[in-house]
Amino acid sequence: MEEQTFQTMLQAKTEEIEQILRSYLPKESGYQKTVLEAMNYSVLAGGKRLRPMLMQETYRMFGGSGGIIEPFMAAIEMIHTYSLVHDDLPAMDNDEYRRGRKTTWAVYGEGMGILAGDGLLNMSFETALQAFSKGMSLEEMRRTADALKILAGKSGVYGMIGGQTADIEAEEQESSISTEQLLFIHEHKTAALMQSSMMIGAVLAGAGEKDVKAIEKCAYNIGIAFQIQDDILDVIGDSAVLGKTVGSDARKSKQTYVTMNGLEQSKADVERLSEEAVTILNSFAGEHTFLEQLILNLVHRAK
Ligand code: IPE
Ligand code: IPE
Ligand code: MG
Ligand code: MG
Ligand code: MG
Repeated sequence: MEEQTFQTMLQAKTEEIEQILRSYLPKESGYQKTVLEAMNYSVLAGGKRLRPMLMQETYRMFGGSGGIIEPFMAAIEMIHTYSLVHDDLPAMDNDEYRRGRKTTWAVYGEGMGILAGDGLLNMSFETALQAFSKGMSLEEMRRTADALKILAGKSGVYGMIGGQTADIEAEEQESSISTEQLLFIHEHKTAALMQSSMMIGAVLAGAGEKDVKAIEKCAYNIGIAFQIQDDILDVIGDSAVLGKTVGSDARKSKQTYVTMNGLEQSKADVERLSEEAVTILNSFAGEHTFLEQLILNLVHRAK
């Protein structure tokens, strides 16, 4: 696919996701108005919308075409956004710049930052549950329940929260962290939500167990590559393009993939892992030209 064609498709798909997401966001009214404003502020700041995109593309690759995927697309972006809102808090990464604007806590205060994150997490499940509808078949019900199980599991203590836990503890650690430890952190804090996205897409489209396992491995590679690239961009990125503070890791003397392996090795690993992800993808018959290009484009992403 021509780069120009890909960019046009990427923009159209991002806008479609934006619309879906917007339709599930809360109205800003009532005595809890401030937290609702803070939630919308965080979600509507933009962002690449990569997770809902991976979900939708995987769904399509396995032949899915209905609207059942939409509440899940909104839900995963809400969970991802909540993870960022909390990640930026003074008690965690203490960052004041995200998605090209002030972080949620920097605008609304820490208490409201915590609550906006909590609100988004809860709302993600309220949203995903809307996938259940009266006339749905037993098979659709089973798939939806499976998807909810993935959504809950991959974002919890055995998923994203587990990774964030190991991440902040590693920051306190005096001794060098091991490769195994770093891969645990990357797998859980970052790859888990990518796995959640792609596995949910597969499950809702009716993919079998073996295919869902392969998708989990594919998304593992994408996720690890993505976090390595995030660590790289924290060193060589441009804050204006990235929309977040560059040098945030160095400020905390954080041990990252880059401090452990050097820039060149890190870049090579992003490339290798992405190619491995594409190889897995190519074992599937379904249409995935765009998805393949998306993964390869992430290797050289500047934001
Ligand atoms: C940032 O994720 C957090 C990481 C897992 C590295 P993204 O880079 O996908 O952030 P947005 O959604 O585009 O803002
Ligand atoms: C955070 O990793 C991943 C999350 C689960 C939020 P980072 O702390 O490196 O993400 P950025 O660089 O702040 O986006
Ligand atoms: Mg962090
Ligand atoms: Mg951070
Ligand atoms: Mg980072």
